Amino acid sequence: MKILVINGSPRGDKSNTMKLTRAFLDGYRSVTPCEVEVITLKDKRIEPCLGCFGCWTGSPGKCVINDDVRSISIKMFASDVVIYSFPLFYYSLPSRLKAFVERQLPTVASFMTGQKNYLVNGGHPPRFEVTFKTLLISNCGFYPIAKSYDSVRAQFNMICGDGGYEEIFVGEGELFCKTITKRRCDARLEEIRLAGAEYAQSGALSPETKAKITANLYPPDMYAAMADEGWGNTIEDYRANDEEFLKAVEKEGKKIKTIY
Ligand SMILES: Cc1cc2nc3c(=O)[nH]c(=O)nc-3n(C[C@H](O)[C@H](O)[C@H](O)COP(=O)(O)O)c2cc1C
Repeated sequence: MKILVINGSPRGDKSNTMKLTRAFLDGYRSVTPCEVEVITLKDKRIEPCLGCFGCWTGSPGKCVINDDVRSISIKMFASDVVIYSFPLFYYSLPSRLKAFVERQLPTVASFMTGQKNYLVNGGHPPRFEVTFKTLLISNCGFYPIAKSYDSVRAQFNMICGDGGYEEIFVGEGELFCKTITKRRCDARLEEIRLAGAEYAQSGALSPETKAKITANLYPPDMYAAMADEGWGNTIEDYRANDEEFLKAVEKEGKKIKTIY
C-alpha cells in the first residue's frame, strides 16, 4: 500500500494542514502497514504551465518544461492513495498546488471526443488508468462555512468525476498552531486519527465521521473574537501603509477612499 502526500502549503513541514494529515496517516497505519512519501511542493521546482500545448503537439504526452512535475506525476500514478494536503487560499488551491494540477495536462489527451459524454462534460479524456484514490485534506482560517470550499469541490468533481474523491475540510485552522487551544485541537486530531483508521478499513468516511471532524471547535463568535485578537494589531495600524497606496492609485487616475 503506497500513499503519496502532496503537501501544497507554502509553510512546508510547519503547515497546519500537515498536522491533520499526519494524524490521518497515524490512524491509517494503525490498521494497514503502508509506505508513505511526502512531497513538499515548496521545496520542488514547479514551474507554471506555459499554455503552449507542447504536451499535445510537439511532444504529445510530455511537457516541454523539465522540472520536478514529471517525477511527482509518475509517483502519483504508482500510488494507491494520493492525499492533497493544502490550506485554502482565496477559496481555492494555493498557487503552487494549482500550478502542479495544471501541469497534469500531458496525462490527458487533446481529443475532446474521447471524453465520455463530451457534449455535456467539459474536459479531456484521461490517457492512463487511475488506480489511486484521491483524498483532499485541507484547513482554512474561517470556521467551516459551507461555501468556502465550493470551487475546490467543483474542480475535483471535474477532475476525479463526481464524488470521485474523499474530503476532510477543517475550519479554524490557525488554532492548530496555538498553545492556548491545544486541548481542543488535540481532541480534533484524535478524531482525524480515527478517521484515518476508518478510511484504511473501508476506503471511505461515514457521514457521522465527517460531521465530527468538521464540527466547529469553538462557537463562531468566540472564534472570530479570538482570531481578531490573535493578530496583535488594530485597523489603525493599517493606515500607515494606506496613504502611499491611495496616492499611487490616484496617480493612475482614480481617487478612492478607505472604507475600513
Ligand atoms: C493568501 C491567503 C489566502 C487565504 N485565503 C483563505 C480563504 O479564502 N478562506 C479561509 O478560510 N482562509 C484563508 N486563508 C487562511 C489559511 O487557509 C489558514 O491560515 C491555514 O491555517 C493555513 O494552513 P497551512 O499552515 O497548512 O498553510 C488564507 C491565507 C492566506 C495566506
